[in-house]
Amino acid sequence: MSTNKKFYITTPIYYPSGRLQLGNTYTTVLADSLARFHRLKGESVYFLTGSDEHGLKIERKAEENNQKPIEYLDEQIANFKKLWKLMDISYDQFIRTTDPEHEKKVQHIFSKLQEQGDIYKGEYVGWYSVSDEEYFTESQLAEVYRDESGKVIGGKAPSGHEVELVKEETYFFKMSKYADWLLKYYQDHPNFIQPASRMNEMINNFIKPGLEDLAVTRTKVDWGVKVPGDPKHVIYVWIDALSNYITALGYDPDQKQQPELFEKFWPANLHLVGKEIVRFHTIYWPIMLHALNLPLPDEILGHGWLIMKNGKMSKSKGNVIYPETLIDRYGLDAVRYYLLKMMPYGNDGVFTPEDFVTRLNSDLANDLGNLLSRTVSMINLYNDGVIPKLSNLNKEDVSIEELSVQIYKDYDEAMSTANLGDALDAVWTFIRRTNKYIDETQPWVKAKDSSLKNELNDVLAHLAASLRFIGTLLQPIMTETPKKIFEQLGLDQISLIKDLNFLDLPENSKVVERPTSIFPRIKAKEEVEFVSKLVSKSTKGKGRAHMEELKKEEQKSIQYDDFSKVKMVVAEIKEAEFLPNSEKLIKFILDDGHNHHRQILSGIRKWYPEPEKLIGKKVIIVANLAARKMAGSQSEGMILAGENGDGNVVLTLMPDVLEPGAEIS
Ligand code: MSP
Repeated sequence: MSTNKKFYITTPIYYPSGRLQLGNTYTTVLADSLARFHRLKGESVYFLTGSDEHGLKIERKAEENNQKPIEYLDEQIANFKKLWKLMDISYDQFIRTTDPEHEKKVQHIFSKLQEQGDIYKGEYVGWYSVSDEEYFTESQLAEVYRDESGKVIGGKAPSGHEVELVKEETYFFKMSKYADWLLKYYQDHPNFIQPASRMNEMINNFIKPGLEDLAVTRTKVDWGVKVPGDPKHVIYVWIDALSNYITALGYDPDQKQQPELFEKFWPANLHLVGKEIVRFHTIYWPIMLHALNLPLPDEILGHGWLIMKNGKMSKSKGNVIYPETLIDRYGLDAVRYYLLKMMPYGNDGVFTPEDFVTRLNSDLANDLGNLLSRTVSMINLYNDGVIPKLSNLNKEDVSIEELSVQIYKDYDEAMSTANLGDALDAVWTFIRRTNKYIDETQPWVKAKDSSLKNELNDVLAHLAASLRFIGTLLQPIMTETPKKIFEQLGLDQISLIKDLNFLDLPENSKVVERPTSIFPRIKAKEEVEFVSKLVSKSTKGKGRAHMEELKKEEQKSIQYDDFSKVKMVVAEIKEAEFLPNSEKLIKFILDDGHNHHRQILSGIRKWYPEPEKLIGKKVIIVANLAARKMAGSQSEGMILAGENGDGNVVLTLMPDVLEPGAEIS
């Protein structure tokens, strides 16, 4: 069942002028997670992305490669699509501005605007940046070059790219005519531009100083959509590109009846764009739409940039990270999670190898990964792998359910406003709370007392219900992990949020026998080095094979509950002497709180040549280790000691406040 709500979300269409780096992919990963969230809510979603293929930049790139533009483009687009597939981007349509259907519709849009007098012919003199595909007046340039007489002969755009002087017959769009209307529209729709601060930026920097008519054609470019009836003019790429949001739905001003897709989804609910292109989307685009007599999108969200310690990623700075390398080594979900977590709403986020590695280990491996493996192990250990019936027997149960209600509210609100950071904070608050719930309810203690079997089962059921809740909320963010969570719990994945009811846990499902680690802990130092090397160019290293090794290593490691079988207590040394007939062993007599004469032999003679000095000290012993004979004498347990890098062994001495018998956990 779906609600009758619709959600049309778009990303900018990307320039196919080279390989996409991690920062580029942020817009699309964010759009994907929002599309998935709205699908989870049962809405009818249309998610559009694509490529912006015309203009001088592409023409020159193809030339550099000795290719025809379309040959060059086809290769680039195949790479884009491969990357989006790798990143599980669930777009409904990928539009190319070289699609003949799109080109035809752009011409129709141009003609209509021309016929109604919004576009007129004139002459343009100004500065053009090929890289930005943008015109600048002299005063807008960040830097100007002058000849000896002081005449401006060149300069740099605010982006730092060189500009060239262009003088040509051109068509103009009467933007100036719509300036007042636009200001009024902003006033009446205060949420139109997000974050709100960007609206003031537009008003103060571009509209108030006077909105000039925009040159919307070029004669010096060949690679583009030709002006109908005047083919020496090519339509400005931004007019061509922005139109994609409506041509993709089949809009054509020449059609009397617009197609169903357009009728259903236009106006867009959200155009997601990077901050540097907010201006095009919040000034030119609304004016174009208004001139076409079309309603405006609900919201334009300008997000910040993912930047490195030394500024924005760029090949010349040598600080570019490619998503494929990270995905290969750490898996897709680690990368998707990190991107969405590290970018603050509407602001720039700084990528550092240290932060990346810490998040993987603490958020994913420790918090989420451990919760799942602890839960599955305990259900196996204490209830033969069967998820018990959920009832509220423990005093801690209610607090966890109540929290789930609040968390869902916070999550829903944050996701509905595209604030992924807050949504993830909410989910992780719940994950950490659930981990704490295990410590509070101490299932391993309940397991020792058969009269507490019902309480124990109830804890296990709450853990399964919590993970079902967490796995569902994570579905828009991660595309592989939720499946694994559900698989390990032996539960069906929930595809509509309305079917998620915390208490409504299916009975008698069986968890897998051996949980596999969903996020193995990575070796921090090694990985920080690996990622740092990526940032500084050299990208060699083991990728997926490395994670598989880590996973295997982790399989060998014990689960928490295995660990909890080891009984460690504080014991006081009562006697200590060399064991006769042994060169290595010291014989200790200890008081462990119950047994005042426990004998333990320990091979530390070399480091403690005067054992009697240890009398009165407190140490940790493993109390439930099976007794064994060493050098002909009985040893009942083991004393813990640590070994330094230099091979020296030191006993773990405990503070005096701990009494013999105190449990170590
Ligand atoms: N072709 C135009 C968009 C036309 S939409 C009608 C364009 N393309 S782009 O390839 O340069 O950028 C695509 C998206 O990537 C933009 O939203 C841009 O902001 C984003 N990013 C590029 N580098 C980025 C970071 N370092 N960080 C975050 N996003 C960044 O602009």
